[in-house]
Amino acid sequence: MNEVMQVLMQRKSVRAYTDEPISAEVREAILQATLRAPTAGNLMLYSILDITDQAIKDRLAVSCDHQPFIARAPMVWLFLADYQRWYDYFLASGVEEVCAQRGEPMRRPAEGDLFLACSDALIAAQNAVVAAESFGIGSCYIGDIMEQYEVHKELLGLPQYVFPICMLVFGHPTQQQKDREMTTRFDSKFIVFENRYHRLDKPEFEEMFAEREAARVKGHTADGAQNVGQATYLRKFNADFTKEMTRSVKLILQEWLK
Ligand SMILES: Cc1cc2nc3c(=O)[nH]c(=O)nc-3n(C[C@H](O)[C@H](O)[C@H](O)COP(=O)(O)O)c2cc1C
Repeated sequence: MNEVMQVLMQRKSVRAYTDEPISAEVREAILQATLRAPTAGNLMLYSILDITDQAIKDRLAVSCDHQPFIARAPMVWLFLADYQRWYDYFLASGVEEVCAQRGEPMRRPAEGDLFLACSDALIAAQNAVVAAESFGIGSCYIGDIMEQYEVHKELLGLPQYVFPICMLVFGHPTQQQKDREMTTRFDSKFIVFENRYHRLDKPEFEEMFAEREAARVKGHTADGAQNVGQATYLRKFNADFTKEMTRSVKLILQEWLK
């Protein structure tokens, strides 16, 4: 096992932090590793908001589905899928004029551009996670940044072609977080298929979920669910936060595609 493999295999999400600050040198090293991530066409279709204002952290802790640890994280980076910068550069570079000369309308950022920009932003974010981990700094993704678009647009000054795709919170893990057990993963045979997609049948699902089912039964949940499928549907897939995310993402898409 080499050092990179160790970092990857031992990483876990960290949601409680010591008071130890993240030094400027380490922050800069994490940033440089982030910016070295692969990027579609070498365009860097993302921006990072470094949230240093405690009042904004406090607001995000509420707007991102009430997760107080966001406000307590010493470093909070918000990753934006960003075509605004390139679109503005195209305008500043006389692209409208060149299109007019050719008798064609200037194309605006569309669905494909959005997905590419989201890919860029997420890949950069994961570089930040791994780089931080290599310095002993834990992190946690906050997917709920896709909720409450109106609030985040106003709070962070987001223009049309910017999509808040994920947020990362970082900090030195508390001892309790270091000691916490790693989460499990599904066996690779249910995730990796050779050449063609394979839809799983009921016996395969039973095998795939056996471990999680045993943990669920041990955990005594009072939600009335009979199995992991029902519990996940009720607690995650059909939860209020998911409905809010769907509403908010629809708005962002409308804005991007208008
Ligand atoms: C896209 C994405 C969004 C996530 N959003 C949240 C979140 O809002 N709050 C949270 O506590 N964890 C969040 N997580 C962390 C996951 O819950 C975590 O990665 C998962 O439970 C596996 O645990 P591990 O990272 O410790 O292995 C998110 C992870 C990803 C990849």
